[in-house]
Amino acid sequence: MESKQLGPGFAAEILGVDLSAAMSDGDFDAIKQIWLENKVAVFRDQNLSDNDLLRFTERFGPLFVHVRSQFNDKTRPGIMLISNIKENGRDLGELGNGDLAWHSDQSYSAEPVFATLMYAIEIPTEGGGTWFCDTARAYENLPEATKARIDGLKQNFSIEVTVETQHVALTEEQRQLKPPVTHPLVRTHPELGRKSLYLSPAHSTGLADLPADEGAALLAELEDWAGRPEFTYLHEWRVGDVVMWDNTSTMHRRDAFSADERRLLKRTGFELPPERAVPF
Ligand code: SIN
Repeated sequence: MESKQLGPGFAAEILGVDLSAAMSDGDFDAIKQIWLENKVAVFRDQNLSDNDLLRFTERFGPLFVHVRSQFNDKTRPGIMLISNIKENGRDLGELGNGDLAWHSDQSYSAEPVFATLMYAIEIPTEGGGTWFCDTARAYENLPEATKARIDGLKQNFSIEVTVETQHVALTEEQRQLKPPVTHPLVRTHPELGRKSLYLSPAHSTGLADLPADEGAALLAELEDWAGRPEFTYLHEWRVGDVVMWDNTSTMHRRDAFSADERRLLKRTGFELPPERAVPF
């Protein structure tokens, strides 16, 4: 399996793979290994049916179904539409055309989704790029004194803040399904055993163990550190791209794009088995 590095020490394009075709266990294992090592994997020029996308996603683990179900596909709820397009006055998908702040998907859940995949159907001519941050390398490169300072700290998350930070609508039932949660600030990868910062500013309500001001200052310091160019990669989308990322070791954000342009992506995700799903 051939791959090409896209970002600084992480993010790789996997070459010569047609995700709609039958795939041997050997090829699948090689893809999984490249993705785990690089945290973000990119496949260009794909032409996938919904079933192809779901089949590839489910091969990694149990299919994730998003709690904000308004934009889940009606017959295949494992697929969510991300779009600013309106059809007959109604939104086709969620997240609009504005910028989106750094986050790790579903960090407001007790058991956040392991990985997310997005498949690009329509892409604006300018803007709408997705930035990825390697929070494992950001942790690894922290001064030892900072590692010692953050060891054992916990962070609070709430789906409620996404109404403002991600411009999404929530029903009362969705709020009840996702009560506030607390996760470690440093987590250990469930398959690889290495540590990373667990940051998700768009979902965070602050550090659990410190006075609010001190916690906010520490989080801001860590988020600034992680957002440095040596830990980030900008994915400039092309139609036919599939990008998959590891939410345990990355966060991502999106650039805004013009409301006059159309952007449509299909999103899926897969979970870890329950005994390994909780950040630890
Ligand atoms: C997301 O944050 O889940 C969506 C990112 C994007 O639209 O590029």
